[in-house]
Amino acid sequence: PQDALVVFTPSGKRGRFPVGTPLLKAARALGVDVDSVCGGRGICGRCQVVVGQGEFAKHGIRSAQDHVTAWNEVEARYQAKKGMKPGRRLSCQAQLLADAVIDVPADSQVHKQVVRKRAEVRNIELDPAIRLHYVEVEEPDMHKPTGDLERLLAALEKQWGLGDLDWDLRVVQGLQKTLRQGQWKVTAAIHRGQVLTHVYAGFRDKVYGVAVDVGSTTIAAHLCDLSTGEVVASGGLMNPQIRFGEDLMSRVSYVMMNPGGEAELTEAVRAGLNELFHTVADEAGIDVVDILNAVVVGNPIMHHLLLGIDPTELGGAPFALAMNSGMTLWASELGLELESDARVYVLPCIAGHVGADTAGVILSEQPHLRDEISLVVDVGTNAEIVLGNRQRLLACSSPTGPAFEGAQISSGQRAAPGAIERVRIDPGTLEPRFKVIGCDLWSNEAGFVEETRKTGVTGICGSGIIEVLAEMFLAGVILTDGTIDGSLAARSPRIEADGRTFRYLVHEPADPDDPRIVVTQNDVRAIQLAKAALYAGTRLLMDRFGVETVDRIQLAGAFGSHIEPKYAMVLGMIPDCDLAMVSAAGNAAGTGARIALLNQKARDEIQQIVKRVEKVETAVEPKFQEHFVEAMALPHKTAAYPELAK
Ligand code: FES
Repeated sequence: PQDALVVFTPSGKRGRFPVGTPLLKAARALGVDVDSVCGGRGICGRCQVVVGQGEFAKHGIRSAQDHVTAWNEVEARYQAKKGMKPGRRLSCQAQLLADAVIDVPADSQVHKQVVRKRAEVRNIELDPAIRLHYVEVEEPDMHKPTGDLERLLAALEKQWGLGDLDWDLRVVQGLQKTLRQGQWKVTAAIHRGQVLTHVYAGFRDKVYGVAVDVGSTTIAAHLCDLSTGEVVASGGLMNPQIRFGEDLMSRVSYVMMNPGGEAELTEAVRAGLNELFHTVADEAGIDVVDILNAVVVGNPIMHHLLLGIDPTELGGAPFALAMNSGMTLWASELGLELESDARVYVLPCIAGHVGADTAGVILSEQPHLRDEISLVVDVGTNAEIVLGNRQRLLACSSPTGPAFEGAQISSGQRAAPGAIERVRIDPGTLEPRFKVIGCDLWSNEAGFVEETRKTGVTGICGSGIIEVLAEMFLAGVILTDGTIDGSLAARSPRIEADGRTFRYLVHEPADPDDPRIVVTQNDVRAIQLAKAALYAGTRLLMDRFGVETVDRIQLAGAFGSHIEPKYAMVLGMIPDCDLAMVSAAGNAAGTGARIALLNQKARDEIQQIVKRVEKVETAVEPKFQEHFVEAMALPHKTAAYPELAK
């Protein structure tokens, strides 16, 4: 038979094939990325292409549609059932008749780009670990006695080229029923091209995955459609372990003091995850058993407790992890109520208190892909700090304590409606104005009182504390050593005596039963200690790297995402840097989990990266104390901040 040339766009891959070759077959032969779940049976509609677009067609003969066969019955059926955009064809049905250009639209590619909103980071290439493959299995025959599993495996090899698949007893247990229910037509879910993970009766083209960030305070989950990469539902929940202790170390001591305590904590966090899975599945209108893949990140203590590992060793030097490699498990092994055949990938930990959450942050922020030096700071009760570039990466964890989250602060509270989040202080009059969460007006604007009647003004959230302190410092209310300047009391009623120290009045409520919002000397000290720990950790990494400045700073975590970079710098939380190069990264650990969920190669990538991260242990580094003391001053005793003067 005659040959015809076919060019696929946008890849530009081309080749000659006998007239009559299905376009999908030609695409496969050329390694063109075209999706398919049904294996060319005209059911899934994933293989759609557009015929005759582009330069090449202009030079062609006759009309573009003459280059391929006209719609066949299968396409007509698909069109009637599910509909196709005008100009589209099913590439498994359309055959090549003459030289043609075939465009593969983005939604027909397996490896499509999942766009991230932030311009400074790369998009996620969709390449999920779980792929669905529809197969028709030979029925059993007494004269050719083979097992149902073996016939399924043979069908997968013949129809999809998937040879040598691993399988597990749990798949076989339900297999006979499924095969008969589907009348020998089933959809197999294959994990990483290697493991037969689950079998659905009949045809199925949707499967879901969930990315989870297990934080010590909150657990967050994103449910994703693995065929599009889209987040279909998100949810969060307080970590139920809170009842055993607010912070990580108090949970470790609970385990140390109560035999069997680790099992209680494990049970609590797993119950939390299960509750969250049900919430996001309900929101998306699916069943939890439609979730076939999960990726989890968390700090080392959360990581160990979720896995049912006693975290006692992490309570003291040398902070040995039970294990630091990433791993893939069955959901049922972890007591997770997903499809019991679901696979769960847990990102690797780095070392000591630098865990899988930091691995997620690295995947998300990609310091390892840049030439310039990035500083990535994930601020929570502990700050995880990563510094480096393409050549070298360093990481440490610094004990900042919960002050940045509003704990230990007299008027501190969690970010919730009614909490002060923005503050400005007039340097002349020392009068403040502020904004609270849930209201767009400043406190000195008309209508503020009415607008906030419901929520009230209840306290100051973490980012608000940074702002109020920075504004107090800029207005001269706080001196460089952190003292609230009592001599100003003569000038402004906002400065009040408070025992032997002074405090600053941010808000006097109209109703005397409501709280007065003040910043005390103790509050300033708590933030000084936290920011000094953060800075000292950063400085330690900079010393080790041999640099005096960094080129970019990414602030991750809920708190890091809400603080104004300028104010973080005014207080000396972070080193001097061009403000245009300081950005908020959002929940980078959770984003890292989502990347590993949507792109299986990211799992191999992070596994390699963590091996070369140099862990610096702040607890045993003598220089840490020195840096810490110097960093107590505002913004710093010796370090210069030329960018702030600009
Ligand atoms: Fe499924 Fe073409 S491959 S419709």
